[in-house]
Amino acid sequence: MKNIFKNAIEIANGICKSKLGNGDIAVDCTMGNGNDTAFLCSLVGEKGKVYAFDIQEEAVISTGKRLQELKLLERAEIILDGHENIDKYVKEDVQLVIFNLGYLPKGNHDITTKKETTIEAVQKCLGLLKPNGIILLIVYSGHENGKMEKRALDSFTLTLNQKEYNAAKICFTNQINNPPELICIEKVFKA
Ligand SMILES: C[S@@+](CC[C@H](N)C(=O)[O-])C[C@H]1O[C@@H](n2cnc3c(N)ncnc32)[C@H](O)[C@@H]1O
Repeated sequence: MKNIFKNAIEIANGICKSKLGNGDIAVDCTMGNGNDTAFLCSLVGEKGKVYAFDIQEEAVISTGKRLQELKLLERAEIILDGHENIDKYVKEDVQLVIFNLGYLPKGNHDITTKKETTIEAVQKCLGLLKPNGIILLIVYSGHENGKMEKRALDSFTLTLNQKEYNAAKICFTNQINNPPELICIEKVFKA
């Protein structure tokens, strides 16, 4: 039997699998090299769609190539713009949004997500979520921007009305070197 609590990324992937099915709409707010975009495209099936955002042209190019190789490109809309502008591009309700925050490990470490734009994007994503839909944020606090982003997100999630959203955080208390944390914001389903 596999461990469930190995790290934030594996837990997030498990949630994606349980939340997404054929025909769903998902958003990758930090496309990078396209690992998450490709994974989401595989889960939403032929009838689904994945919007993917990044501010770096190199991310757009490498994700496009990757999706083409995997024959998943038709399921994606790749957008060279900040996730804080999501409202300009996504005009339909979505089932799942993922943010893998910080910088590209093998890229320019100065190009990183920032607390102001991340919070703005999360606020806009809340308005796009379907009932039962979810926002997943993988948060890295090992660098200075990441520390500030983590604090801002912790404060922000405290303000969410529990009648509207289930907000939870998973952090590994016994791992060294600032392991990533996972924040989940699920929109309450009202029968
Ligand atoms: C940790 S990486 C993402 C890794 C990616 N999910 C993958 O599978 O390779 C974070 C990415 O966020 C991007 N980013 C930074 N600020 C952004 C913004 N305002 N909107 C969208 N993407 C942003 C960076 O360019 C970087 O590629």
